[in-house]
Parts: sequence; C-alpha cells; structure tokens
Amino acid sequence: MAHNSNCLLNYLAILLLLSLLQSSQAHRRTEDGVKTEVFLSPKFVLEPGSVSNKYYYGINFPRGHIAIKSFNAEVVDEEGNAVPLHETYLHHWVLLRYYQQKGVDVRKYHGDLGFHRSDHITIKNSGVCDSGLSQYFGLGSETRRTATDVPDPYGIEVGNPVDIPAGYEEGWVLNVHAIDTRGAEDKLGCTECRCHLYNVTIDEYGRVLPPDYNGGLKCCYDEMRCKVKEGFEGVKRSLYLRYTVKYVDWDSSIVPVKIYILDVTDIWTKADESRGLRERHHCLVEYEVESCPAGSANSGCTHTKALTTSLPTGGDVIYGVGHQHAGGTGTTLYGEGGRVICSSNPTYGKGNEPGNEAGYIVGMSTCYPLPGTVKIYAGEALTLVSNYSSTQGHTGAHTSMMLSNIIWPIVLFGVAIIVVVVIVFKGETGQGEGYEAML
Ligand SMILES: *[C@@H]1O[C@H](CO)[C@@H](O)[C@H](O)[C@H]1NC(C)=O
Ligand SMILES: *[C@@H]1O[C@H](CO)[C@@H](O)[C@H](O)[C@H]1NC(C)=O
Repeated sequence: MAHNSNCLLNYLAILLLLSLLQSSQAHRRTEDGVKTEVFLSPKFVLEPGSVSNKYYYGINFPRGHIAIKSFNAEVVDEEGNAVPLHETYLHHWVLLRYYQQKGVDVRKYHGDLGFHRSDHITIKNSGVCDSGLSQYFGLGSETRRTATDVPDPYGIEVGNPVDIPAGYEEGWVLNVHAIDTRGAEDKLGCTECRCHLYNVTIDEYGRVLPPDYNGGLKCCYDEMRCKVKEGFEGVKRSLYLRYTVKYVDWDSSIVPVKIYILDVTDIWTKADESRGLRERHHCLVEYEVESCPAGSANSGCTHTKALTTSLPTGGDVIYGVGHQHAGGTGTTLYGEGGRVICSSNPTYGKGNEPGNEAGYIVGMSTCYPLPGTVKIYAGEALTLVSNYSSTQGHTGAHTSMMLSNIIWPIVLFGVAIIVVVVIVFKGETGQGEGYEAML
C-alpha cells in the first residue's frame, strides 16, 4: 500500500512539471546544460472544413551556435489548450533552415517562393531527395507521441558563424498544414485530401489535375475547403503550433550528426559518368494505396511498397523514425543482406483526448541503437519497406465508406525514414570524407 501511494505521488509531480511548462510561452528553462524554449507559431485561423497550409519565415528560434537536442510540437488554441486531431487534423509540419541576406524582410514571402532567390539560401539536410523533404524536423498527426531526442553526445549543429556567409544570417521557416474537420461529412476523406470532397480539379498553381489523381496534397492546399455536413455550425477559431526546442550551447565535446530522409516514392537514377549524368532522387512524397478487392477486406490484406536506394556516405545510426498516414502498419529500413536497420511502427489512438484520438496515428516508434552497433556503409543497397492495410486504422463509422472506394489515396510523405548520420572518424568512406557513423 505504502509503495503504491509513493508511486502515485511521483506521477503527480511529473504531471505538475509538465503543466507548468505548458502554461508559459517562450519560456526558457535550463537543466544539466540543456535549455528548453517554448514558442508559438504565428496564428492561423480555421473554420469547419477549411485548410491552412502556410510558411512562416523568420520564426522565433534559439539563436547562436547551438546543438539541437529535440523539437516537439502540437496544435493549441488561444487559451493554450491542446486541440485534438478529430477537430484540427495536423497533416504535417516541417521545419527548414535558411541563410537570409541581412536587411531583407523575409516575412513577406509565402509558399516556397522564397527558396530560389539569391538573398535566400535553403540549408537542406544531408539528403537524399533532390527537392522537397529537405527539412531538419517534420512530422504529422503522430507528433504528440513521437520522440525526437538526439542522445548524448550527439547533436544537430546549427548557427555556426563560420558557416554563415558574410552579410547573411540564419533563419528558420515553419510550414504548418492543418485541416479543420469539425462537422466534416467524411473526416477521414478530408484528412486524406480526397479531391472530390474539396471540389478541386486544378492545383494551387492553376494547373489541371490528371483525372487519375484522386487525392493528395494537390487537392488540399491553403484556403481550400473540405465538405461539411449541411447545416453544421462551427465557430472560426485561432490556432497556433506550439513548439518546444531543446538545445545546448555548442562545445567541442558534441558529436555532430547528419540527417538523411529516405522517401519510399523516390525515383532513383544512378549516376552515369560515361554520359556525364549525376545521380538523381526524384521524391514524389505521396502515393496511392488501392483498397483490397471486395470480399478480401477482412483477411488482413496489406499493400507493400518498397524502395531500394543508397546513401553517399556511411555512418553509425543514432536515431531513426518512419512517417505514415492513417492505414499505415509499419515501415522498416533494411541493409544489404536483409539486416534490420530500423523498424518504425504506428500507434493508433483509442480515445477522444489529444494524443489518443481513435483512428488516428498518434505516435511512431523510434530507433535508438546503441551507437556503433548499427552501421550503414557508403553506397550500400538499402531497402525501405512501407506497409498499409485497408482494414486497419479505419475503425468505426469510416470503415464501410472506405471499402466502397476503389482507390485509397494516402497522402504526403508517403513514408519517410529519417536517418541521422554521425561522422565517426576520418579516412574510411573511400569518398575522402572520412568514415561515418549513422544514425
Ligand atoms: C465545385 O466547383 C465548381 C467549379 O469551380 C463550381 O461550379 C461548383 O459550384 C462547386 N460545387 C460545390 C458543391 O461547391
Ligand atoms: C509488410 O507486410 C509483409 C506482408 O504481410 C510482411 O511480410 C512484412 O514483414 C511487413 N513489413 C513491415 C515493415 O511491416
């Protein structure tokens, strides 16, 4: 008995710490040299059915030469209350780093238009997609229950004055894509961006969508509206992405890691030196999953998509995580010969409250191999496998609707495994860059 009540007290103490942290914005805390800062994104306003997909340049972010240890986020309302996914679906958020010429007002930019200007240089992660997926961090509905910590002695180095070109300063842009599904006729359909629910036939740039494009990012761009039940009344509300950055001041004991993102839809073309062609990675980010033929729906049919690719450098794997959308049943990265580098599996919510919303992916499991135990070699053939089920993740009211559709679009980031690479020692890759540790 006595033992039990001690446990209870501990538990309450932890809860208290959390809620103190959440009640203060842009608040800084230091613990064992790790600083924690909490910020709010600019406000976005949603009403039933509406979509916000905006890029916020020049967001608040820790300054100086630091090592980022983690980045977490969630959608909150004006009172700071967590907003559940069944009201505001967090399709994705992405954090990108750039160098900006001093004196240029970055806040005027919208969309990704700023990326190609000479006064604005995007600092991509280490690869491998040619365009897109160049973020440092980025997740979706699984944000609340997915660990992003980079363990000691590693860190993501940013703000090194030696790397920033003269006349430039470092900045961060946050892209938040959120869909208000209050009162939606088909909540799942809205979150999967099915075009017919948005009554969309042309994309954001005015181009006609191909007739076989049934759903995806091209149908739920900024300011689009998903079909709401007739007569449904809901108020407009102001929301924010509240993000928490943990970091330490840079020092020579920190081992910098590299971030790699692999996308299962990557169309990889190998370099062909005889024809002067460089390697290309064309990442589509999203793909469609066809539902099972009628009658087989309950026998656990699985849609498997696989990619074989490689990384230009090798290293020790320090951290890995996958990203899937509703219906996902797991993703694994294999090395040559079939050894498992990282398996990342979704957790589906079972209730109503934020972080546990039934039918949504509320977390992805992560990989933290003991440094040195899981390696990727430069040029090694890597296989990324992503499974989706047409019977899982669609519980309750949505199931019958899903089965009546022939095509089941799965949206965004199809699957991305994030791999962080650590440079371990010089002289081993054969590429002149040293040896590498991956994470
Ligand atoms: C759908 O879009 C078309 C063309 O823009 C428009 O004429 C029609 O009224 C829209 N339908 C609905 C239900 O909003
Ligand atoms: C994907 O599904 C196949 C077939 O059911 C299974 O053999 C494989 O282990 C699954 N892989 C992952 C990564 O879940």
